[in-house]
Amino acid sequence: MRALAALALCACAAAAAAPPRPEPPLPGTHFLGSDLKALQADDFANPGLLWVARGEALWSEGAKPCAACHGEAARSMRGAAARYPRFDAGLGRVVNLEGRIDACRTGRQGLPAFAPESPERLALAAFVARQSRGMPLAVSVDGPARPVFERGRDLYRTRIGQLNLACTHCHDERWGKTLLAEPISQGHPTAWPAYRVEWQTLGSLQRRLRACFFGVRAAMPDYGDGDLLALELYLAWRGEGLALESPGVRR
Ligand code: HEC
Ligand code: HEC
Repeated sequence: MRALAALALCACAAAAAAPPRPEPPLPGTHFLGSDLKALQADDFANPGLLWVARGEALWSEGAKPCAACHGEAARSMRGAAARYPRFDAGLGRVVNLEGRIDACRTGRQGLPAFAPESPERLALAAFVARQSRGMPLAVSVDGPARPVFERGRDLYRTRIGQLNLACTHCHDERWGKTLLAEPISQGHPTAWPAYRVEWQTLGSLQRRLRACFFGVRAAMPDYGDGDLLALELYLAWRGEGLALESPGVRR
């Protein structure tokens, strides 16, 4: 209870100039049709599990594998994904989960970085995220992460594109309604990386966010762009307490 009260306090402070969080908070899965809901819940049918299995293999591959330093992922990576994006003191910047994996690949393994949305990068991210399935999102937006959080919070309310809409107009003001026959969710990040039927493949949260930029006819930020990272941190704060469900299944 004490911990809960403390969380509520820091949430209030952070909320100072942010739109109120949707009440009650509902994961994107809530807004899926029963077919996709069932697909996500079934470990034998959820296509995202193929990437998780590939990530598990990659974990132990190579001359200096992830496992050499991190051991069994079920133990060492449990809860890690729920804390990202976060300020990484060693790197001196805020990184998302994929960025942290990239840093280990280049800095610790001495290997070339994976391309954004490459199958290997998605597989490792899905495998690591899977170790936190069911755990509540709990990021820190204080200290050195603060400016990134504030940037994300402000972007979230900035109108963009030819449709001149901000994230908040759809995901705070219109959730539960439909847009071109697609139900609009509250826009939480808990399912990602997720398998999207429209893509016929797994994709990162940044790819999903780029699709929202595209949807309002705005220029899409590049992968790794600071705006996308800031939005990711804001979304993680906004979804605090919701359970991680990667690999999710989405339309
Ligand atoms: C015109 C309405 C609209 C705007 C504006 C919009 N989105 Fe979306 N967004 C959607 C729709 C539709 C989907 C797919 C259905 C769903 O999950 O809501 C979606 C999906 C998402 C998801 C995935 C949710 C899930 O559970 O998989 C996230 C996260 C998200 N949007 C964040 C954002 C952010 C951040 C912005 C601002 C940069 C934004 N959206 C702007 C309509 C919009
Ligand atoms: C040579 C040792 C080494 C290897 C190999 C390595 N890492 Fe790391 N990793 C670390 C250390 C040390 C940290 C702690 C952060 C730091 O100081 O860089 C870390 C941190 C992480 C974190 C953040 C964990 C958290 O709780 O915040 C993730 C995720 C991660 N590594 C994933 C991977 C993956 C995936 C691979 C393989 C592609 C890998 N690492 C390979 C040493 C390694």
